Amino acid sequence: MASTQAAQVLVASNRGPVSYQVAEDGSLHARRGGGGLVSGLSAIGPDAGALWVCSSLSDGDREAVRRGVGEPGVRMLDIPADVHADAYNGVANSVLWFVHHMLYQTPLEPSFDAEFRAQWESYEAYNRAFASALAEEAADGATAVIQDYHLTLVPGMLRALRPDLRIGHFSHTPWAPPDYFRVLPDDIAAAILHGMLGADRLGFLTHRWADAFRACCEAFVDGGVGGTRIGVHGLGADADFLRQRSHEPDVTERLASLRTEIGASPDGTPRRTIVRVDRTELSKNIVRGLHAYRHLLATRPEWRDRVTHVAFAYPSRQDLAVYRDYTAEVQRVAAQINDDYGTSAWTPVILHVEDDFARSLAAYRLADVALVNPIRDGMNLVAKEVPVVSDEGCALVLSREAGAYEELAEDAITVNPYDITQTAEALHTALSMPPGERAERAKRLAAAATALPPARWFLDQLNELEA
Ligand code: G6P
Repeated sequence: MASTQAAQVLVASNRGPVSYQVAEDGSLHARRGGGGLVSGLSAIGPDAGALWVCSSLSDGDREAVRRGVGEPGVRMLDIPADVHADAYNGVANSVLWFVHHMLYQTPLEPSFDAEFRAQWESYEAYNRAFASALAEEAADGATAVIQDYHLTLVPGMLRALRPDLRIGHFSHTPWAPPDYFRVLPDDIAAAILHGMLGADRLGFLTHRWADAFRACCEAFVDGGVGGTRIGVHGLGADADFLRQRSHEPDVTERLASLRTEIGASPDGTPRRTIVRVDRTELSKNIVRGLHAYRHLLATRPEWRDRVTHVAFAYPSRQDLAVYRDYTAEVQRVAAQINDDYGTSAWTPVILHVEDDFARSLAAYRLADVALVNPIRDGMNLVAKEVPVVSDEGCALVLSREAGAYEELAEDAITVNPYDITQTAEALHTALSMPPGERAERAKRLAAAATALPPARWFLDQLNELEA
């Protein structure tokens, strides 16, 4: 049943545009986030009757919901902490993320046991909470766009509750090929595909992921994708925002201190930089990136003391032991390189782990080379952002397994992310690229990277759904 202030456009995602923290004095502090959906929704304007349905993620969020604190246009769901932990950590991040990014060490994992079945029930309950909230809030014939692997069951559940709605779903991750997807228990694989096919239209970041989804449906669902339409929307970087934000005073300040930290080569010229910025995420391949850099220093001694690897690896999903272990491994390998190659005047790897957006932009600005080598990635926006922001134009070393490869391969130096020797050689090629060629390539990379800005990306999906 539609409520009185029923919404015309609804977005649903696990992580919403705002989060809350309880301060020591008990007051609540709101923090606003960014990203493609935030720009997309602001593009349709404040009067469009849009509502963003998201989950409470922390104690602060749950407290805000209980106190009735909120932002206009946002409905945060009070999902019990244990249900959310099972759905988000247990199913979404430990199973679905692993399947789509093909991250399992299959001799030992996954094993789908009774504990997993209990977590799956939470995942269903969590999806049901979203479907009910959307059904309650939507105006007659409204459009709902549901985001990502956390919410694969929502389209089907919502369709059953509100057949009048136009329902879209967008996947921000890769999609697994059938031979990998079928590691899931048969009933769960079927539930996910049927849940998604409850949508009128499904969006993916690249043709490769859309084709994999279609192949899974052909393999495991009678009638394949049936009447559900499938589209590709390759989210691009937000050039206007990035160019403006990266020249604000806090970024310029951090640029100066990074330059000091990096220092100069023996001949007095600034050291070259290889920059990477990631969440500390298993799929980002940070450890092999460090090994490739080490191999570069070992096999191309001419770069010693003349290059610095600026690596920002920001905390992510630290509730999961495997992410904590991976974070420790990143730090261990970086420290080992510094021990083995560093001198009193040169730190080969500058690793920062506290999230600082302004410092990330500063690193983008001074990057000579951007290293983006994920083993598998839905898109990878860093690959698109660095060429836009870099002051002198950077060379891009890019994994062929990143979604961004579909649009950027031509002007990047592309690598097999498992091949450390090849990646080291690619870093050498990138560092050696003549400045003119580098600037030309960066210009073309930036043009390709900004072809579909976030606002357009979102509006295109709405238009397609309403067509
Ligand atoms: C990926 C997912 C998003 C997710 C983001 C950050 O991009 O596709 O849905 O929000 O990672 O991960 P987190 O688990 O911190 O929300």
